[in-house]
This record gives sequence, structure tokens and C-alpha cells, in this order.
Amino acid sequence: MRLLITGGAGFIGSAFVRLALQENWVGRLVNLDKLTYAGNLENLSSVENDPRYRFVQGDICDTAQVIALIEEEKPDAIVHFAAESHVDRSILGPAAFVETNVKGTFSMLEAARATRLARFLHVSTDEVYGSIDEPHDADEEYPLKASSPYSASKAGSDLLALSYYTTFKMAVTVTRASNNYGPFQFPEKLIPLMISNALEGKPLPIYGDGMQVRDWLFVDDHCRAIWAALTKGAAGQIYNVGGSRALPNRAVVEMILEAVGQPSSLMTTVADRPGHDRRYAITTEKLEKATGWKALVPFEQGLAETIQWYRDNTAWIARVRSGDYQAYYTKNYQSR
Ligand code: NAD
Ligand code: TYD
Repeated sequence: MRLLITGGAGFIGSAFVRLALQENWVGRLVNLDKLTYAGNLENLSSVENDPRYRFVQGDICDTAQVIALIEEEKPDAIVHFAAESHVDRSILGPAAFVETNVKGTFSMLEAARATRLARFLHVSTDEVYGSIDEPHDADEEYPLKASSPYSASKAGSDLLALSYYTTFKMAVTVTRASNNYGPFQFPEKLIPLMISNALEGKPLPIYGDGMQVRDWLFVDDHCRAIWAALTKGAAGQIYNVGGSRALPNRAVVEMILEAVGQPSSLMTTVADRPGHDRRYAITTEKLEKATGWKALVPFEQGLAETIQWYRDNTAWIARVRSGDYQAYYTKNYQSR
């Protein structure tokens, strides 16, 4: 398999690159990434000399560059990870989300159509279903009710991707995963932010009552699901990917504090996120039945591995938190 992926310098994309090469899923892997604040080639230092791997810096919105790359590399499939991915940033500035997630996905689909590329997997999120009241869990037929500019832009890109199957008969598959966690995650999302603050004894900002529920999926389980959906899933289908481990935020943060040996008093209630989804919950039977995939990493094990990784990689944390991160942190948290 020759694969072109986008966004491979980010958190999930880089985990996919490392796993795909380690497991010999691919004979060729080309990674197209713009290297925004979230893209970090340090995440890929372990594979940079692998002859099967090539990094290309570029913007998914540049359709001509994508077409030229496809013509040069002749991939069998595209796995499209690249996105603006953080809800709080989409509240502070939605424009980049429409640009990258909607127009960027459109550009990737057009490039694939122009080159008659055989297979396209669009990586999406369970956030497109919006907040889900108990006792329901969203299956793939659940209505879309996105709450944030991030999730709305992902819902828009999902529909565009699926329209290329219906209209142009392109072999498009969409995966919708729950909240990922693991090594190399940028410390703007809940788990890496809380671990990195806790390791330094800094306050842990809890939005509102902290009883919002998220389903946690270890990043390698997500990558295996994407590979399963690409190779065993059907075109025109959507597959949810979840960890089947729903927890309120406070419980997750308590577990982190206990593991790090810090007191619960570090938890600091701050103003809630506007439009905050109360609960995400999905069913994953469709992917399991179609491909035999199952989440393998229990949350306690994945969290312990993740905390250990952040303990061992304080220089990585320091580097990604220098520069723009401080400005973002001040903007997002100071006025709360
Ligand atoms: P991330 O923010 O860590 O990485 C995004 C990557 O995309 C970065 O390397 C960035 O440089 C690149 N990128 C951004 N704009 C680009 C552009 N215009 N052209 C080329 N590259 C560009 O994101 P992530 O958490 O790894 O998420 C990857 C995908 O998975 C996204 O599509 C996201 O919506 C989806 N997803 C994420 C989660 C999660 O919990 N993080 C859950 C479900 C789905
Ligand atoms: P996040 O990691 O941003 O993922 P998403 O909102 O896309 O699910 O947040 C996960 C949960 O943690 C969400 O309910 C918001 C909450 N949260 C906080 O309470 N404090 C924080 O500083 C962050 C980043 C998130």
C-alpha cells in the first residue's frame, strides 16, 4: 500500500505514521503537513530516516500542490487527518476552522477526484453529533447537531466527503472518533494540559462543574481503527470509533492528580466554555462487526503510559509551550 496522509505531524497523524511503519502496513508513506502550531516534526524523529517515509510541507488548501504530489507519488489511498482541532481555539477564532476543515477537505476531495484516486478516508469526530442525553448513545445514523465552530466545520467536511461518494462514486469512508489521548498530544486538550500543569504544581482549570462526560480512546487504538476502516471497511460508510470508557472530566483529573502525587486543591473552577457539550457517547458495533477491530488499551493503562511519557519528555513540553502557546493560554484562561 502506498499512502498519502495529511496532518501527519500532529498528535493522531504522527501516531499513525509511527504505527504504520512499525507494523509494516505500508510500503510508502507520504506526509503532507503545513506545520501549524500543532504540527511538530519532533513527533516524527523516530521515522525521519525510514526510506519508506517522506515529509512534504504544504497546505491542503493548495489543490494544485496536492494534485502534483499525487501524480508524483501515485498513492493507493489518502488518509485525511489535517484539521484545526481544538474547540476553544474555534471559539476564539472560527475562520481558520472553516478554511482548513471545510475548504481544505474540499480541496483534498477535488485533488483526489482530478487524479481518479481509488480510496479516501476522512478522519472525523463524534462531536458532530453534539451533546447526547442519557441513556442514548449515538450510532452512525444519529442526526448531526454540532455545537462549536470546530464540530460544525467537521460536520460540513463529513457531508462534503460523503457527497463525493454519492455523486462522483469516489470510494470515501468517514470515521468519527471520540476523545483521543496519549503521548505527543499538544497541551491544549484536557488530558495533556492537566498532566503538564499538575507535574509543575500549577492550577488545573475546570470548566463549569466539571461533570461533562467524554469517552476516552487511546490514540493507537484510533490509528488501528482507521487502518481497519481503510482496508476492511466499505466505501460510502461512516464508522464510529470509541474507547467505551465514558468519564466525567473531574474523575479524569482526579486520576491524573493521584498519579502525579498532587492534591485535589489544584483543581480550579473557571467559567464554562460557551456552548459546552455536556456528554458525548457513541456506539462502535458497526466498525467492530465490519472489521473485527476492538479498542485494546484500558483507560487506566493508557493514562499511566501517557503520564509517564509526559514525565519523561519535559523538554518536549517546554518547547511546545514556548512562544505562541503562552499567548493562547493567557487569551483562553486569563479572563475566565
Ligand atoms: P492536531 O491539531 O494535533 O494536528 C493537526 C495537524 O494538521 C497538524 O500537524 C497541522 O500542522 C496540520 N494542519 C493543519 N492545517 C493544515 C493545512 N491547512 N494543511 C496541511 N496540514 C495542516 O490534530 P489531531 O488531534 O491529531 O487530530 C487529527 C484529526 O483527527 C483531525 O481531523 C481531528 O478533527 C480528528 N479527531 C481528533 C480527535 C482528538 O481527540 N484529538 C478526536 C476525533 C477526531
Ligand atoms: P477537550 O480536550 O478540549 O476536548 P473536547 O472539548 O473536544 O471534547 O476537552 C475535554 C473536556 O474537558 C471538555 O468537556 C472541556 C473540558 N476542559 C476543561 O474543563 N478544562 C480545560 O482546560 C480544557 C482544555 C478542557
